[in-house]
Amino acid sequence: MTHLTGNEKSRYVQDLFTRIASRYDLMNRLMTAGQDLRWRREVIRRAGLHPHASLLDLGAGTGDLARTAVAQQPTAHVTAADFTFEMMRAGRKPGDSFGWANADALSLPYGAASFDAVVSGFLMRNVIDNLAALREQHRVLRPKGRIVILDTTRPQRNLLSPLIWLHMHIIIPFLGTLLSGQSDAYTYLPDSTEAFLTAEELASRMAVVGFKQIGYKRVMFGTIAIHWGEK
Ligand SMILES: C[S@@+](CC[C@H](N)C(=O)[O-])C[C@H]1O[C@@H](n2cnc3c(N)ncnc32)[C@H](O)[C@@H]1O
Repeated sequence: MTHLTGNEKSRYVQDLFTRIASRYDLMNRLMTAGQDLRWRREVIRRAGLHPHASLLDLGAGTGDLARTAVAQQPTAHVTAADFTFEMMRAGRKPGDSFGWANADALSLPYGAASFDAVVSGFLMRNVIDNLAALREQHRVLRPKGRIVILDTTRPQRNLLSPLIWLHMHIIIPFLGTLLSGQSDAYTYLPDSTEAFLTAEELASRMAVVGFKQIGYKRVMFGTIAIHWGEK
């Protein structure tokens, strides 16, 4: 599926997340052995929310980052935005104290300088034009606003490479097929990771669109990266 580009890729991504929406959270917990919850808390800490800050969780899916944000900063104004309705529907819980919005990361329905922070979890490798998505996030941020990106990243070669390959190409597709019945969805994950930018490349694209104070760290044996920066 990684050969798809433009609108074809967009439609494929939307269809894929529509099909796996009901099993998405369970698969996330299993694939990361629950570690994603820890990374999400770090993402929100790095967003540096003050009590009345406005935060956009872009490509929010079932809203885990938005939920983590209101847990850490209950008075923040948080919006979870995605272009796949089924993911948002699967994630919606009674009593959620944040808003939901239908939005395309490449053309955000918000004015310039609308948010104090924009975070995303596992969005960036799915968008058809990551530079355009970064530009949009830069546009909607206020001066000094923060961006934090959590995503899979191409691991550097090391002693664990064969085990990482086994995890990504055998265990994840096996579990994904077993739990969701959608085998292509969980071969898309390793394929899209390998087709995505390296951590260094993503950091330099953030610089190209104007972000400053850029940094990143790798977690989970170098297969996941958290990037941050400031407008
Ligand atoms: C892997 S899920 C991540 C969900 C959630 N952020 C998380 O951390 O678990 C990727 C999400 O990005 C959304 N997405 C992909 N491309 C998008 C775009 N161009 N605009 C908005 N959402 C997009 C998909 O619909 C999907 O819900």
